[in-house]
Amino acid sequence: MNLTEQLIKAKTFLHSDPSLLQWDKEYLWHPFTQMEEWLQEEPLVIERGDGAFLYDIEGKRYIDAVSSIWCAVHGHNHPYIVSSMIDQISKISHSTLLGLSSVPAIRLAEKLIAAAPKGLKKVFFSDSGAGAVEVALKMAVQYWHLRGEKRTRFLRVQGSYHGDTFGSMSVGYSDAFHKPFQEMLFEADTIPSPYYLKKTKKITEEEAEKESLLKAEEFLEEHGSQTAACIVEPLIQGAAGIIPHSSRYLKSLYDRVKSYSVLFIGDEVAVGFGRTGTLFAVEQAGISPDLLCLGKGLSGGYLPLSATLATEEIFEAFLAPFEEFKQFFHGHTFSGNSLACAAGIASLEIFKKENTLKRLEPKLDLFWSFLKEKIEPLENVMEVRGKGFFAGIEVGKNKRENFPVEFRAGKKIMMKARSYGIIFRPLLDTIVLAPPLNIQEGILKELLNGILNSIQEELR
Ligand SMILES: Cc1ncc(COP(=O)(O)O)c(C=O)c1O
Repeated sequence: MNLTEQLIKAKTFLHSDPSLLQWDKEYLWHPFTQMEEWLQEEPLVIERGDGAFLYDIEGKRYIDAVSSIWCAVHGHNHPYIVSSMIDQISKISHSTLLGLSSVPAIRLAEKLIAAAPKGLKKVFFSDSGAGAVEVALKMAVQYWHLRGEKRTRFLRVQGSYHGDTFGSMSVGYSDAFHKPFQEMLFEADTIPSPYYLKKTKKITEEEAEKESLLKAEEFLEEHGSQTAACIVEPLIQGAAGIIPHSSRYLKSLYDRVKSYSVLFIGDEVAVGFGRTGTLFAVEQAGISPDLLCLGKGLSGGYLPLSATLATEEIFEAFLAPFEEFKQFFHGHTFSGNSLACAAGIASLEIFKKENTLKRLEPKLDLFWSFLKEKIEPLENVMEVRGKGFFAGIEVGKNKRENFPVEFRAGKKIMMKARSYGIIFRPLLDTIVLAPPLNIQEGILKELLNGILNSIQEELR
């Protein structure tokens, strides 16, 4: 019996308790959820997880097709992460990084720098993806300030999402999410995404990339000297609907940005830790950002932990005698939480011990050939897109026409998939698949067949 099995056996789990359903509605306010709709429905309450599976309070088993919003990269209750956390909790759960250091934070920082693209030398811990982005934006602005330059503009790619704090909303603005706050946000300059250019102008991918890069060039030519940084979700914009761009585009954008001495921020909160097939997505473009934001899978998805990695050059700009007050005045109570860092160390070790990325390769072939050969040809599937274990299946009335929003096609398929024992959360009418990287081949097939059946049955 492995450790996970022992732990499951040792534990007496709650059994169906009707008061849980009632209290959920009475006391909880769920994130990104229209609560009016939620209150009319029966919530699905999860009690435990094991590998690629989640179990509800009735004991029903579901495949976690989105790794609990893209973070449980090694699945749930992984024995090595669990035992590392138990080991750490028996020593201490948390001690501050303000004025003290801690063994797990030091060890994780060392491992991250060893694994990260070269050039990144320092790790600043926070506790959410938005927090890591906020730190990157502030570091960029203060870096230029310390160098005697006023650079407060940011460049971003259309459609990007970087979190829900004010800074991250500013660089990831969308009308649907952020309209009430619009006047309070700082303005970020947006270059058109090659994906939308290709779609709307009916041009080739190369032409679309060229046009997007030209816009970036024009902007940088005019405003580069006032621009602190360009922020990009490398290879895939997640929340936008799993919108891909090529590594060629990423590299060209990076080169242009750097040629104007503007900092480049890679937001790998969603794509970091293997999601696109390599440990970090930027590796595929052969680039090393000045600032790299990590979250979600950093702790294996077990505890809230994020990090902003910075170059030596950025770090050194903040060095000065104390009385000059040049330090980075930013921190969180739980920055570098010991328990979360212990999970992070274990997660990085698993990538090596289990050869996770190598073993992912044949599963990627299976995943993409199923998606492209069996799902994309369906009448109601407009497009299948993505990279690695991060796919979006956009459904529509037909190949060219979206459903009206109120039809809730994505939600309908989500509910149907539950009857097949599959949990995912759509982005409007885009079904998102982001399974744990170590999902077994048989379970992956079950997942793909379940999604195929759900689309066919729900939209026929
Ligand atoms: C690219 C990206 N950046 C930042 C965030 C925000 O992370 P968090 O929800 O942990 O604040 C997300 C969340 O989905 C994301 O996808």
